[in-house]
Amino acid sequence: MFLSESLGLNEKGNLTIGGLDTVDLAEKYKTPLYVMDEELIRKNCRLYLDSLKKAYGDNGLVLYASKAFSCIGVLKIAAQEGMGLDVVSGGELYTAKKAGFPMDKVYFHGNNKTYDEIEFAVSENIGCFVADNIGEICDIDEIASKNNKIVNILLRIKPGVDAHTHDFIKTGQIDSKFGFAIETGEAFDAVKKTLSCKSINLLGIHCHIGSQIFEIEPFVEAAKVMLSFMKAVRDETGVELSHLNLGGGYGVQYTKDDDPIGYDEYIGDIAKAVRKLAEKYQLKMPKIIMEPGRSIVASAGITLYKIGAVKEIPGIRTYVSVDGGMADNPRYIMYGAPYSAVVANKADQKADRIVTIAGKCCESGDLIQENIALANPEKGDVLAVLVTGAYNYSMSSNYNRIPKPAVVMIKDKKDRIIVKRESYEDVIRNDVSEE
Ligand code: LLP
Repeated sequence: MFLSESLGLNEKGNLTIGGLDTVDLAEKYKTPLYVMDEELIRKNCRLYLDSLKKAYGDNGLVLYASKAFSCIGVLKIAAQEGMGLDVVSGGELYTAKKAGFPMDKVYFHGNNKTYDEIEFAVSENIGCFVADNIGEICDIDEIASKNNKIVNILLRIKPGVDAHTHDFIKTGQIDSKFGFAIETGEAFDAVKKTLSCKSINLLGIHCHIGSQIFEIEPFVEAAKVMLSFMKAVRDETGVELSHLNLGGGYGVQYTKDDDPIGYDEYIGDIAKAVRKLAEKYQLKMPKIIMEPGRSIVASAGITLYKIGAVKEIPGIRTYVSVDGGMADNPRYIMYGAPYSAVVANKADQKADRIVTIAGKCCESGDLIQENIALANPEKGDVLAVLVTGAYNYSMSSNYNRIPKPAVVMIKDKKDRIIVKRESYEDVIRNDVSEE
Protein backbone atom coordinates (compact mmCIF):
# COMPACT_ATOMS: atom_id res chain seq x y z
CA MET A 1 0.00 0.00 0.00
CA PHE A 2 2.79 2.47 0.89
CA LEU A 3 5.58 1.23 -1.44
CA SER A 4 7.69 -0.35 1.29
CA GLU A 5 6.85 -3.41 3.32
CA SER A 6 8.05 -1.58 6.46
CA LEU A 7 5.08 0.75 6.27
CA GLY A 8 1.52 0.17 7.39
CA LEU A 9 -1.60 1.73 8.83
CA ASN A 10 -2.76 1.44 12.45
CA GLU A 11 -6.19 1.64 14.05
CA LYS A 12 -5.81 5.42 14.52
CA GLY A 13 -5.41 5.82 10.78
CA ASN A 14 -1.73 6.74 11.27
CA LEU A 15 1.20 5.59 9.18
CA THR A 16 3.44 3.01 10.87
CA ILE A 17 7.03 1.98 10.23
CA GLY A 18 8.34 -1.30 11.59
CA GLY A 19 5.05 -1.51 13.49
CA LEU A 20 5.51 1.84 15.31
CA ASP A 21 3.27 4.87 14.94
CA THR A 22 5.09 7.57 12.95
CA VAL A 23 3.08 10.32 14.61
CA ASP A 24 4.30 9.13 18.03
CA LEU A 25 7.87 8.98 16.71
CA ALA A 26 7.58 12.55 15.41
CA GLU A 27 6.29 13.64 18.81
CA LYS A 28 8.99 11.79 20.74
CA TYR A 29 12.02 12.79 18.66
CA LYS A 30 10.76 16.01 17.02
CA THR A 31 11.03 16.70 13.31
CA PRO A 32 12.51 16.56 10.76
CA LEU A 33 13.44 12.98 11.53
CA TYR A 34 14.82 10.15 9.47
CA VAL A 35 13.40 6.78 10.53
CA MET A 36 14.69 3.43 9.33
CA ASP A 37 13.58 -0.17 9.66
CA GLU A 38 16.49 -2.45 10.56
CA GLU A 39 14.71 -5.62 9.49
CA LEU A 40 14.27 -4.34 5.95
CA ILE A 41 17.94 -3.31 5.67
CA ARG A 42 18.92 -6.82 6.75
CA LYS A 43 16.43 -8.37 4.38
CA ASN A 44 17.74 -6.29 1.47
CA CYS A 45 21.32 -7.40 2.27
CA ARG A 46 20.20 -11.03 2.34
CA LEU A 47 18.39 -10.76 -0.97
CA TYR A 48 21.70 -9.92 -2.63
CA LEU A 49 23.78 -12.37 -0.62
CA ASP A 50 21.35 -15.24 -1.23
CA SER A 51 20.78 -14.45 -4.92
CA LEU A 52 24.50 -14.21 -5.60
CA LYS A 53 25.11 -17.45 -3.76
CA LYS A 54 22.32 -19.17 -5.67
CA ALA A 55 23.53 -17.93 -9.04
CA TYR A 56 27.24 -18.15 -8.45
CA GLY A 57 28.11 -20.31 -5.46
CA ASP A 58 30.64 -19.09 -2.92
CA ASN A 59 32.81 -17.13 -5.33
CA GLY A 60 30.92 -13.87 -4.91
CA LEU A 61 30.99 -10.85 -2.63
CA VAL A 62 28.40 -8.12 -2.06
CA LEU A 63 29.73 -4.74 -0.97
CA TYR A 64 27.40 -2.20 0.59
CA ALA A 65 28.06 1.12 -1.18
CA SER A 66 28.19 3.22 1.94
CA LYS A 67 27.81 6.55 0.10
CA ALA A 68 24.08 5.73 0.15
CA PHE A 69 24.10 6.10 3.94
CA SER A 70 27.19 5.83 6.07
CA CYS A 71 26.98 5.86 9.84
CA ILE A 72 28.29 3.48 12.46
CA GLY A 73 24.88 1.94 13.18
CA VAL A 74 24.17 1.03 9.56
CA LEU A 75 27.70 -0.22 8.87
CA LYS A 76 27.47 -2.54 11.88
CA ILE A 77 24.31 -4.06 10.43
CA ALA A 78 25.96 -4.53 7.01
CA ALA A 79 28.99 -6.16 8.63
CA GLN A 80 26.82 -8.51 10.69
CA GLU A 81 25.04 -9.60 7.52
CA GLY A 82 28.38 -10.55 5.94
CA MET A 83 28.57 -7.71 3.44
CA GLY A 84 31.79 -6.09 2.28
CA LEU A 85 32.02 -2.30 2.00
CA ASP A 86 32.56 0.31 -0.71
CA VAL A 87 34.03 3.56 0.64
CA VAL A 88 34.90 6.63 -1.42
CA SER A 89 36.61 8.91 1.04
CA GLY A 90 38.73 9.05 4.15
CA GLY A 91 35.58 9.96 6.08
CA GLU A 92 33.71 6.88 4.93
CA LEU A 93 36.79 4.76 5.69
CA TYR A 94 37.05 6.31 9.15
CA THR A 95 33.38 5.54 9.80
CA ALA A 96 34.03 1.91 8.75
CA LYS A 97 36.99 1.73 11.11
CA LYS A 98 34.95 3.10 14.00
CA ALA A 99 32.14 0.62 13.19
CA GLY A 100 34.69 -2.21 13.49
CA PHE A 101 34.09 -3.19 9.87
CA PRO A 102 36.46 -5.99 8.77
CA MET A 103 39.07 -4.00 6.82
CA ASP A 104 39.91 -6.86 4.46
CA LYS A 105 36.39 -6.49 3.03
CA VAL A 106 36.71 -2.76 2.39
CA TYR A 107 37.13 -1.50 -1.20
CA PHE A 108 38.29 2.09 -1.65
CA HIS A 109 36.76 3.89 -4.66
CA GLY A 110 36.92 7.42 -5.98
CA ASN A 111 38.31 9.36 -8.93
CA ASN A 112 40.63 11.57 -6.92
CA LYS A 113 41.83 9.88 -3.78
CA THR A 114 44.28 12.10 -1.98
CA TYR A 115 47.75 10.97 -0.95
CA ASP A 116 46.65 11.18 2.70
CA GLU A 117 43.59 9.04 2.04
CA ILE A 118 45.72 6.40 0.34
CA GLU A 119 48.18 6.43 3.24
CA PHE A 120 45.31 6.04 5.70
CA ALA A 121 43.82 3.13 3.74
CA VAL A 122 47.20 1.39 3.35
CA SER A 123 47.87 1.75 7.07
CA GLU A 124 44.48 0.17 7.81
CA ASN A 125 45.25 -2.76 5.48
CA ILE A 126 42.04 -2.41 3.49
CA GLY A 127 41.14 -5.26 1.15
CA CYS A 128 41.46 -3.45 -2.15
CA PHE A 129 41.71 -0.13 -3.96
CA VAL A 130 39.65 0.52 -7.05
CA ALA A 131 42.16 2.61 -8.97
CA ASP A 132 40.89 5.29 -11.28
CA ASN A 133 43.88 6.99 -12.91
CA ILE A 134 47.58 6.51 -13.53
CA GLY A 135 48.73 9.12 -11.01
CA GLU A 136 46.82 7.30 -8.32
CA ILE A 137 48.35 3.95 -9.29
CA CYS A 138 51.79 5.53 -8.86
CA ASP A 139 50.79 6.95 -5.46
CA ILE A 140 49.45 3.59 -4.28
CA ASP A 141 52.62 1.82 -5.41
CA GLU A 142 54.84 4.40 -3.72
CA ILE A 143 52.93 4.33 -0.42
CA ALA A 144 52.68 0.53 -0.39
CA SER A 145 56.41 0.25 -1.07
CA LYS A 146 57.27 2.75 1.71
CA ASN A 147 55.26 0.58 4.09
CA ASN A 148 56.68 -2.71 2.81
CA LYS A 149 53.27 -3.88 1.76
CA ILE A 150 51.73 -5.37 -1.36
CA VAL A 151 48.40 -3.72 -2.06
CA ASN A 152 45.49 -5.22 -4.03
CA ILE A 153 43.83 -3.19 -6.70
CA LEU A 154 41.06 -3.37 -9.26
CA LEU A 155 41.11 -1.00 -12.20
CA ARG A 156 37.99 1.01 -12.86
CA ILE A 157 37.00 0.54 -16.49
CA LYS A 158 34.44 2.45 -18.55
CA PRO A 159 32.56 -0.24 -20.41
CA GLY A 160 31.02 2.31 -22.80
CA VAL A 161 27.48 1.19 -21.99
CA ASP A 162 24.65 3.68 -21.91
CA ALA A 163 22.44 3.23 -18.86
CA HIS A 164 19.07 4.91 -19.15
CA THR A 165 19.10 7.10 -16.11
CA HIS A 166 19.65 10.73 -15.12
CA ASP A 167 22.76 12.25 -16.74
CA PHE A 168 24.27 13.16 -13.36
CA ILE A 169 24.23 9.56 -12.16
CA LYS A 170 25.41 7.89 -15.38
CA THR A 171 29.01 6.78 -15.22
CA GLY A 172 29.80 4.08 -17.76
CA GLN A 173 30.25 6.22 -20.89
CA ILE A 174 33.56 7.57 -22.29
CA ASP A 175 32.74 11.13 -21.30
CA SER A 176 32.87 10.44 -17.59
CA LYS A 177 35.36 11.52 -14.95
CA PHE A 178 35.50 7.94 -13.67
CA GLY A 179 37.86 5.23 -14.83
CA PHE A 180 39.77 4.18 -17.92
CA ALA A 181 38.17 3.88 -21.37
CA ILE A 182 38.77 0.72 -23.34
CA GLU A 183 38.32 2.26 -26.81
CA THR A 184 41.10 4.79 -26.37
CA GLY A 185 43.63 2.25 -25.14
CA GLU A 186 43.80 3.90 -21.71
CA ALA A 187 42.49 0.79 -19.96
CA PHE A 188 45.19 -1.37 -21.48
CA ASP A 189 47.89 1.14 -20.61
CA ALA A 190 46.64 1.10 -17.04
CA VAL A 191 46.88 -2.69 -16.92
CA LYS A 192 50.46 -2.56 -18.19
CA LYS A 193 51.40 0.21 -15.80
CA THR A 194 49.89 -1.71 -12.88
CA LEU A 195 51.64 -4.93 -13.80
CA SER A 196 54.93 -3.06 -13.72
CA CYS A 197 54.38 -1.82 -10.17
CA LYS A 198 56.32 -3.83 -7.61
CA SER A 199 54.04 -3.18 -4.66
CA ILE A 200 50.70 -3.68 -6.38
CA ASN A 201 48.80 -6.90 -6.95
CA LEU A 202 46.30 -6.48 -9.80
CA LEU A 203 43.26 -8.57 -8.85
CA GLY A 204 40.88 -7.54 -11.59
CA ILE A 205 38.60 -4.90 -12.99
CA HIS A 206 35.59 -2.88 -11.94
CA CYS A 207 32.79 -1.00 -13.67
CA HIS A 208 29.75 0.92 -12.50
CA ILE A 209 27.41 2.11 -15.22
CA GLY A 210 25.12 4.37 -13.21
CA SER A 211 22.45 4.46 -10.56
CA GLN A 212 18.67 3.91 -10.32
CA ILE A 213 18.66 1.62 -13.38
CA PHE A 214 15.58 -0.46 -14.15
CA GLU A 215 16.79 -2.61 -17.02
CA ILE A 216 18.86 -5.77 -16.95
CA GLU A 217 20.38 -5.38 -20.42
CA PRO A 218 22.91 -2.60 -19.67
CA PHE A 219 24.29 -4.66 -16.76
CA VAL A 220 24.58 -7.78 -18.90
CA GLU A 221 26.12 -5.73 -21.71
CA ALA A 222 28.68 -4.26 -19.31
CA ALA A 223 29.51 -7.73 -17.96
CA LYS A 224 30.16 -8.91 -21.52
CA VAL A 225 32.45 -5.99 -22.30
CA MET A 226 34.37 -6.63 -19.08
CA LEU A 227 34.80 -10.34 -19.81
CA SER A 228 36.12 -9.65 -23.28
CA PHE A 229 38.56 -7.14 -21.80
CA MET A 230 39.73 -9.79 -19.34
CA LYS A 231 40.31 -12.11 -22.29
CA ALA A 232 42.29 -9.42 -24.13
CA VAL A 233 44.44 -8.87 -21.04
CA ARG A 234 45.11 -12.60 -20.76
CA ASP A 235 45.90 -12.92 -24.45
CA GLU A 236 48.30 -9.99 -24.49
CA THR A 237 49.98 -10.23 -21.12
CA GLY A 238 49.39 -13.81 -20.02
CA VAL A 239 47.89 -12.51 -16.76
CA GLU A 240 44.51 -13.89 -15.75
CA LEU A 241 42.49 -11.46 -13.67
CA SER A 242 40.60 -13.13 -10.85
CA HIS A 243 38.07 -10.45 -9.75
CA LEU A 244 35.22 -8.83 -11.63
CA ASN A 245 33.36 -6.05 -9.82
CA LEU A 246 30.18 -5.04 -11.64
CA GLY A 247 29.26 -2.08 -9.45
CA GLY A 248 25.85 -1.12 -8.13
CA GLY A 249 22.98 0.85 -9.59
CA TYR A 250 19.92 -1.33 -9.10
CA GLY A 251 16.80 0.81 -9.19
CA VAL A 252 14.27 1.08 -6.38
CA GLN A 253 10.62 2.06 -6.32
CA TYR A 254 10.08 5.69 -5.31
CA THR A 255 6.56 5.97 -6.72
CA LYS A 256 3.94 3.63 -8.10
CA ASP A 257 5.24 4.39 -11.62
CA ASP A 258 8.63 2.82 -10.91
CA ASP A 259 8.92 -0.82 -11.84
CA PRO A 260 12.18 -2.31 -10.58
CA ILE A 261 13.29 -5.80 -11.54
CA GLY A 262 13.89 -8.42 -8.84
CA TYR A 263 17.52 -8.75 -7.70
CA ASP A 264 17.25 -12.48 -8.25
CA GLU A 265 16.55 -11.95 -11.90
CA TYR A 266 19.29 -9.32 -12.30
CA ILE A 267 21.91 -11.42 -10.59
CA GLY A 268 20.87 -14.66 -12.28
CA ASP A 269 21.14 -13.09 -15.75
CA ILE A 270 24.48 -11.49 -15.02
CA ALA A 271 25.92 -14.70 -13.57
CA LYS A 272 24.69 -16.62 -16.61
CA ALA A 273 26.37 -14.17 -19.00
CA VAL A 274 29.64 -14.22 -17.05
CA ARG A 275 29.71 -18.01 -16.85
CA LYS A 276 28.99 -18.42 -20.56
CA LEU A 277 31.68 -16.01 -21.66
CA ALA A 278 34.25 -17.31 -19.19
CA GLU A 279 33.76 -20.75 -20.72
CA LYS A 280 33.91 -19.42 -24.25
CA TYR A 281 37.12 -17.49 -23.59
CA GLN A 282 38.56 -20.27 -21.43
CA LEU A 283 38.99 -17.97 -18.48
CA LYS A 284 38.82 -19.12 -14.89
CA MET A 285 35.49 -18.06 -13.37
CA PRO A 286 36.19 -14.69 -11.78
CA LYS A 287 35.04 -13.76 -8.31
CA ILE A 288 31.95 -11.60 -8.91
CA ILE A 289 31.53 -8.51 -6.76
CA MET A 290 28.42 -6.33 -6.65
CA GLU A 291 28.07 -2.95 -4.96
CA PRO A 292 24.46 -2.02 -4.23
CA GLY A 293 23.90 1.08 -2.14
CA ARG A 294 20.47 2.54 -2.80
CA SER A 295 18.68 -0.80 -2.94
CA ILE A 296 20.03 -1.79 0.48
CA VAL A 297 18.78 1.21 2.43
CA ALA A 298 16.37 3.35 0.36
CA SER A 299 13.16 1.43 0.98
CA ALA A 300 13.96 1.05 4.69
CA GLY A 301 13.83 4.79 5.39
CA ILE A 302 11.31 7.61 5.60
CA THR A 303 11.58 11.25 6.63
CA LEU A 304 9.04 12.78 8.99
CA TYR A 305 8.33 16.52 8.91
CA LYS A 306 5.86 18.86 10.54
CA ILE A 307 3.72 20.82 8.13
CA GLY A 308 3.81 24.57 8.77
CA ALA A 309 2.63 27.15 6.27
CA VAL A 310 0.04 26.08 3.69
CA LYS A 311 -0.13 28.75 1.00
CA GLU A 312 -2.76 28.50 -1.69
CA ILE A 313 -2.09 30.66 -4.73
CA PRO A 314 -5.43 30.66 -6.54
CA GLY A 315 -5.23 29.20 -10.03
CA ILE A 316 -1.53 28.48 -9.62
CA ARG A 317 -0.63 25.99 -6.90
CA THR A 318 -0.66 25.25 -3.20
CA TYR A 319 2.64 25.25 -1.34
CA VAL A 320 2.76 23.00 1.69
CA SER A 321 5.89 23.94 3.63
CA VAL A 322 7.65 21.53 5.94
CA ASP A 323 10.26 22.08 8.65
CA GLY A 324 13.04 20.51 6.55
CA GLY A 325 13.74 20.54 2.82
CA MET A 326 16.76 20.64 0.55
CA ALA A 327 19.14 20.57 3.52
CA ASP A 328 17.96 17.05 4.45
CA ASN A 329 16.85 15.92 0.97
CA PRO A 330 18.45 17.71 -1.99
CA ARG A 331 17.42 15.00 -4.50
CA TYR A 332 14.44 16.76 -6.07
CA ILE A 333 16.36 19.92 -6.78
CA MET A 334 19.42 18.01 -7.98
CA TYR A 335 17.81 15.32 -10.13
CA GLY A 336 14.09 16.06 -10.21
CA ALA A 337 13.84 12.83 -8.25
CA PRO A 338 10.32 11.50 -7.78
CA TYR A 339 9.03 10.82 -4.26
CA SER A 340 5.83 9.64 -2.65
CA ALA A 341 4.52 11.24 0.52
CA VAL A 342 1.74 10.61 3.00
CA VAL A 343 0.15 12.81 5.67
CA ALA A 344 1.07 10.42 8.47
CA ASN A 345 -1.84 11.33 10.76
CA LYS A 346 -4.31 11.02 7.86
CA ALA A 347 -2.86 7.93 6.23
CA ASP A 348 -6.31 6.33 5.95
CA GLN A 349 -7.78 9.34 4.15
CA LYS A 350 -8.06 9.88 0.45
CA ALA A 351 -5.13 11.79 -1.01
CA ASP A 352 -7.02 14.16 -3.27
CA ARG A 353 -5.32 17.55 -2.92
CA ILE A 354 -2.60 18.26 -5.43
CA VAL A 355 0.11 20.32 -3.78
CA THR A 356 3.79 21.21 -3.92
CA ILE A 357 5.87 20.27 -0.92
CA ALA A 358 8.34 23.05 -0.12
CA GLY A 359 11.19 23.19 2.34
CA LYS A 360 12.10 25.99 4.73
CA CYS A 361 15.33 27.12 3.06
CA CYS A 362 15.64 30.61 1.70
CA GLU A 363 15.52 29.50 -1.90
CA SER A 364 12.61 29.12 -4.35
CA GLY A 365 13.94 25.85 -5.71
CA ASP A 366 13.82 24.26 -2.26
CA LEU A 367 11.12 21.73 -3.07
CA ILE A 368 10.72 18.10 -2.08
CA GLN A 369 8.12 17.32 -4.72
CA GLU A 370 5.73 19.13 -7.05
CA ASN A 371 2.15 18.22 -7.96
CA ILE A 372 1.74 15.43 -5.49
CA ALA A 373 -1.60 14.26 -4.05
CA LEU A 374 -1.94 14.50 -0.27
CA ALA A 375 -4.87 14.05 2.11
CA ASN A 376 -5.91 17.57 3.17
CA PRO A 377 -2.53 18.74 4.48
CA GLU A 378 -2.86 21.27 7.31
CA LYS A 379 -0.56 23.11 9.70
CA GLY A 380 0.52 20.75 12.49
CA ASP A 381 0.13 17.55 10.46
CA VAL A 382 3.04 15.14 10.19
CA LEU A 383 4.22 14.54 6.66
CA ALA A 384 6.10 11.36 5.78
CA VAL A 385 8.24 11.36 2.65
CA LEU A 386 8.82 7.73 1.71
CA VAL A 387 11.84 5.76 0.52
CA THR A 388 14.41 8.27 1.78
CA GLY A 389 16.85 5.77 3.29
CA ALA A 390 19.46 6.30 0.55
CA TYR A 391 21.26 9.50 -0.48
CA ASN A 392 19.29 11.67 1.95
CA TYR A 393 21.17 11.77 5.25
CA SER A 394 24.38 11.15 3.31
CA MET A 395 23.72 14.16 1.06
CA SER A 396 22.37 16.45 3.74
CA SER A 397 23.93 19.81 4.53
CA ASN A 398 23.77 22.63 7.00
CA TYR A 399 22.55 25.11 4.39
CA ASN A 400 20.95 28.09 6.12
CA ARG A 401 22.69 26.74 9.24
CA ILE A 402 19.95 24.19 9.68
CA PRO A 403 21.04 21.43 12.08
CA LYS A 404 20.93 17.92 10.58
CA PRO A 405 18.04 15.74 11.76
CA ALA A 406 18.44 12.66 13.95
CA VAL A 407 18.20 9.14 12.55
CA VAL A 408 16.08 6.65 14.48
CA MET A 409 16.34 2.90 13.84
CA ILE A 410 13.42 0.58 14.52
CA LYS A 411 13.95 -3.05 15.44
CA ASP A 412 11.44 -5.46 17.00
CA LYS A 413 9.06 -2.54 17.46
CA LYS A 414 11.64 -0.68 19.53
CA ASP A 415 13.14 2.65 18.50
CA ARG A 416 16.68 3.82 19.13
CA ILE A 417 18.73 6.79 17.95
CA ILE A 418 21.60 5.86 15.64
CA VAL A 419 22.56 9.43 14.74
CA LYS A 420 21.85 12.28 17.13
CA ARG A 421 20.11 15.46 16.04
CA GLU A 422 22.56 18.31 15.63
CA SER A 423 22.22 21.23 17.98
CA TYR A 424 22.83 24.88 17.14
CA GLU A 425 26.07 24.48 19.04
CA ASP A 426 27.06 21.67 16.64
CA VAL A 427 26.37 23.98 13.73
CA ILE A 428 28.93 26.52 14.95
CA ARG A 429 31.41 24.03 16.41
CA ASN A 430 34.14 24.81 13.90
CA ASP A 431 33.63 28.56 13.80
CA VAL A 432 36.56 30.42 15.26
CA SER A 433 35.50 33.54 17.09
CA GLU A 434 38.22 36.14 16.89
CA GLU A 435 38.20 38.07 20.13
N1 LLP B 1 29.60 1.61 -6.86
C1 LLP B 1 30.07 2.75 -7.35
C2 LLP B 1 31.43 2.81 -7.88
C3 LLP B 1 29.26 3.90 -7.34
O1 LLP B 1 29.73 5.02 -7.84
C4 LLP B 1 27.96 3.84 -6.79
C5 LLP B 1 27.11 5.01 -6.75
C6 LLP B 1 27.51 2.61 -6.28
C7 LLP B 1 28.35 1.51 -6.33
C8 LLP B 1 26.15 2.44 -5.66
O2 LLP B 1 25.14 2.68 -6.58
P1 LLP B 1 23.61 2.44 -6.13
O3 LLP B 1 23.41 0.96 -5.97
O4 LLP B 1 23.40 3.15 -4.86
O5 LLP B 1 22.83 3.01 -7.24
N2 LLP B 1 23.46 10.75 -5.25
C9 LLP B 1 22.79 10.05 -6.33
C10 LLP B 1 23.36 8.69 -6.57
C11 LLP B 1 24.83 8.72 -6.87
C12 LLP B 1 25.41 7.36 -7.03
C13 LLP B 1 26.89 7.41 -7.00
N3 LLP B 1 27.52 6.15 -7.12
C14 LLP B 1 21.30 9.97 -6.01
O6 LLP B 1 20.89 10.50 -5.00
O7 LLP B 1 20.53 9.41 -6.80
